[in-house]
Amino acid sequence: MKSIWDNDINQNNKFSILNDNISTDVCIIGGGITGISIAYELFKNNIDFVLLEKDKICSKTTNFSSAKITSQHGIIYSELTNKYGEEFTKYYLEANNNAIFNIQKIIERENIQCDFKYEDAYIFTQNVSDVNIIKDEYKTLNKLGSKDVELLENIDVNINCCQAIKFKNQASFNPVKYTLSLANIIHNKNKNIFENTCVQNIKEKDGKYIINTSNYLVTTKYVVLATHFPIKDIPGFYFLKMYQNTSYIIAVDIGTNEFNGMYINYEDPTISLRSLKQNNKTILLIGGNNNKTGDIDTIDKYSSLEKLAYKLYPNSKILCRWNTQDCISIDKVPYIGRFSKYTRNMFVATGFNKWGMTTSNVAANIITDMILNKQNKYEWVFKATRYKLSKNIKEVYYIANQTMQSMIVNKFKIKEENIDTIPNNTGKIIKVNGKNIGIYKNEDGKIYKINPYCSHLKCLLTFNSLDKTWDCPCHGSRFDIYGNVINSPASKKIEYTT
Ligand code: FES
Repeated sequence: MKSIWDNDINQNNKFSILNDNISTDVCIIGGGITGISIAYELFKNNIDFVLLEKDKICSKTTNFSSAKITSQHGIIYSELTNKYGEEFTKYYLEANNNAIFNIQKIIERENIQCDFKYEDAYIFTQNVSDVNIIKDEYKTLNKLGSKDVELLENIDVNINCCQAIKFKNQASFNPVKYTLSLANIIHNKNKNIFENTCVQNIKEKDGKYIINTSNYLVTTKYVVLATHFPIKDIPGFYFLKMYQNTSYIIAVDIGTNEFNGMYINYEDPTISLRSLKQNNKTILLIGGNNNKTGDIDTIDKYSSLEKLAYKLYPNSKILCRWNTQDCISIDKVPYIGRFSKYTRNMFVATGFNKWGMTTSNVAANIITDMILNKQNKYEWVFKATRYKLSKNIKEVYYIANQTMQSMIVNKFKIKEENIDTIPNNTGKIIKVNGKNIGIYKNEDGKIYKINPYCSHLKCLLTFNSLDKTWDCPCHGSRFDIYGNVINSPASKKIEYTT
């Protein structure tokens, strides 16, 4: 699976594996846009740090993003106002608007070539019955003092639209070029970014954290968990207040056609559109068709996106397709700040709800200020230790119910079956001699068997026939057919036999 940004990953990088024990002030774990943005702010403030990434820098979630930099986060402002009030929502909007400006300033200051461009972002509905929801959102934005929004009845794309809001002066960029450029700027000076360095555990001793990678130790005062899903479960309990959602993207060559703006619809299934230029051609990114990770069989998720591409531009050429997992917090506001009330010097940034390109910058500023003991005016909005059960009861019930099904109920639904009856090119969990086994038979009938329980908290996995992976419906871990982890929070391989 390759994204449109994939070719930019390996160019001119000099990061190595950690090859010595290190003592530092801050250890950032995770080398995507969030970790690197935090690293950049620490670098600007002359704070001593190291960054550890278990794979290649920027090769995971950042690489799979559609890379919109925007405060247009779906219909969120009326929802947040109802839940948390006007002041909270105003700060949320302002923090994200500032992030667009901050990113543009960094690009300008560091002279980064990453195809940054300002463009308008639109939220629209295709349903007459949802017109009032869009109008209410617009009213809320006006009340919040947003001057850069406009209510429209049409959008400039050949798809049905009943009502839309335009957010002016939003932006898009190449997320890999941006993040790697920042990483190279930091590393050229300090040689403190390490890739292919997997953290095994984090222990606290004498007021410091000892971070164990397979071969070396990092001793540090502060830890920042900037991994996609926090690699530590306790005492943060993020697995109880977050789930993962998978969305699908195709990149389409639409030739010399012009395409302006970034679009997302309100209803399901999601349609998300934005364009970029490559070799004088316009490449359209069409995304959507989201599902909760591990929830359903995902066999034809790309075909409707391709159908839309051909409808919009009959001569479309499909260049590549990929999917990505996003962490969704229960109230759709990211968790940024102290990891828990009991770990004063451990910080986290997660739950970006698909808008991580923008909120990674918010996170970088909040966490850097917290380390510097400086007041940040947005800290209280994104506070990671918040847990307002009464305001999010529906979402909490949803997460608890899904977890209960996969942890307990579904395990008893598996039927005794003969492996021979499973057709080729199929994955399934069956019972053999009273034991549940995950079976995948490839096109030639070769059998791959796994123990079908997630190595995170033992939920029953489901087979994803689109990617040929085993996915966890509880918190979104994913494993390949050999049981290797391809998406966290799981960190351990699951048992595999042939
Ligand atoms: Fe938590 Fe699987 S991801 S149990």
